[in-house]
Amino acid sequence: MTAKGLFISFEGGEGAGKTTQIKRLKEWLENQGHDVVLTREPGGTPEAEKIRDLLVKRDGGNWDGLTELLLFFAARRHHVETLIKPAIAEGKIVICDRFADSTEAYQCYGHGVSKDVFTQIKTIVLGEFAPDTTFLLDVPVDIGLKRSKRVNDSIEVLSDAEIEDRFERLDTTFHENLRAGFLEIAAQNDNRFMVIDALKPLDDITAEIQQTIEGKLTHV
Ligand code: TYD
Repeated sequence: MTAKGLFISFEGGEGAGKTTQIKRLKEWLENQGHDVVLTREPGGTPEAEKIRDLLVKRDGGNWDGLTELLLFFAARRHHVETLIKPAIAEGKIVICDRFADSTEAYQCYGHGVSKDVFTQIKTIVLGEFAPDTTFLLDVPVDIGLKRSKRVNDSIEVLSDAEIEDRFERLDTTFHENLRAGFLEIAAQNDNRFMVIDALKPLDDITAEIQQTIEGKLTHV
């Protein structure tokens, strides 16, 4: 239906409720006849999913921040070139669960890699390529952490031990830095970011997201 593709990303810390909203947006767009590609980072292609395993599984190794950043961008390069760009070129709507803003938030604000290094690598890998719209689902850290311990991620089901492992490694200060980082990144890129208060009722959030995308679709 759309002649021009659209690239939408969802960002947020733990327990922000991305999964639910992504699923609802996909269904809503498909019901209107749009061709939607749902993907995620790290991962999204078989090759990038292998890099994902190195990063998110508990036996993945103990990477420092810069090594992590390079792995995320290696996976991203493959994902963008072989899946995201071709889909957009075919007029599809790509919805990505996390993208480069997560690297800036997690690796720079969370793990202390310099923003200058991030910007240099991002320029090499992505050039000017960026999402058309990014939804940041913002939630206070304590609430997000409580919520995410209950969440059974529909894309990747982790065992209780794996979930616990992830939370033991990352303390509250890390998550506070992450949240502040995401909000700062959003403020610096307000042309494409839409910050959503993730404490609002689910249906209100869904409506807000639909309204934003509706505005974009009328322009394609
Ligand atoms: P995932 O299970 O997809 O997390 P979530 O459900 O919160 O989206 O695991 C991805 C993890 O990788 C998550 O903790 C965020 C982190 N991450 C980074 O540190 N840097 C990145 O560039 C990306 C894309 C993710």
